[in-house]
Amino acid sequence: MEFARRPENMERITTLAQAEAFIEEQVKLVREQVGDGKVLLALSGGVDSSVVAALLIRAIGRQLVCVHVNHGLMRKGESEAVIEVFGKELDANLVYVDATDRFLNLLEGVSDPEKKRKIIGGEFIKVFDEEAAKLSGISFLAQGTIYPDILESIKAAESGKPVKSHHNVGGLPDEMAMELVEPVKLLFKDEVRVVGEALGLPHAMVYRQPVPGPGLGVRCLGAITRDRLHALREADAILREEFDLSGLAEHVWQYFISIPDIKSVGVKDEMRYEGWPAIIRAVNTTDAMTATIEEIPYPVLHKVTDRITSEVEGINRVLYDLTPKPTGTIEWE
Ligand code: XMP
Repeated sequence: MEFARRPENMERITTLAQAEAFIEEQVKLVREQVGDGKVLLALSGGVDSSVVAALLIRAIGRQLVCVHVNHGLMRKGESEAVIEVFGKELDANLVYVDATDRFLNLLEGVSDPEKKRKIIGGEFIKVFDEEAAKLSGISFLAQGTIYPDILESIKAAESGKPVKSHHNVGGLPDEMAMELVEPVKLLFKDEVRVVGEALGLPHAMVYRQPVPGPGLGVRCLGAITRDRLHALREADAILREEFDLSGLAEHVWQYFISIPDIKSVGVKDEMRYEGWPAIIRAVNTTDAMTATIEEIPYPVLHKVTDRITSEVEGINRVLYDLTPKPTGTIEWE
């Protein structure tokens, strides 16, 4: 397998001026590659796919078709941000698919984390394929492959270990008669962010913390129920708001809430109140293989606890997970 390699003398993109030059060059290359053809992109709202979308809109406008699949496991406001930024502000050719019921119905009663991941991943491909089949004349598939994805695959191929190729890397299955468009494949994440800023994407989108593909699906622990998923989404939004206000969001690598499938006895308005605990996780890492705990200041913890227990229906306790990785993993599932 031939992998694209970053030239040794390629300058690192750290300034907006460098990003502008990169964008200009890519716009030209994409126009040359695509001509008047149509390009399809799965737009999750994550950093890489968002930057690729904005770049391709700059290059080919509505020849790009973005498909955003809302699997019902998005964090609060994520799909809305995609619609606002791409559908409205950038006037993208955006297909929005609300597949919430499909995913949640399939996941009903499924508590095994790996089964949950398989169902979410498999259904995602199905929904995306169905949408692609409805479109005609698509000859290109854009992907938000970045250089670390390629490096990971090169490492796996060179070590001779059973291939752990990155899902983005290695071309398309033969039966897909589409050519790949991967404009940021030689960039590192920090460079992609600078390019995103130069393209005028919102700061929150460009500096978004990593979110697992299955989203809240692996944070609503055990079998997902709609009421617990709703509580999780609201509690997670409160944590993010308070991290933004306190400045923690600027430097903490990943922070989120998980809610286990257990209830404890509590009290509210002088009445017995059985509810779920919301578990705060806030970690720092460079490669996600190991992670340390962010020491959240107590006043922030108190405020988050007060807000979650008073504002979110169904939660009566807030816990703070102090376990580094190892022995914990970053996610609970
Ligand atoms: P763990 O929990 O293994 O997580 O310490 C390491 C990093 O990977 C993310 N993660 C996922 N990302 N699909 C993804 O795209 C997944 O199924 C998945 N599980 C974990 C996790 O959020 C962390 O950044």
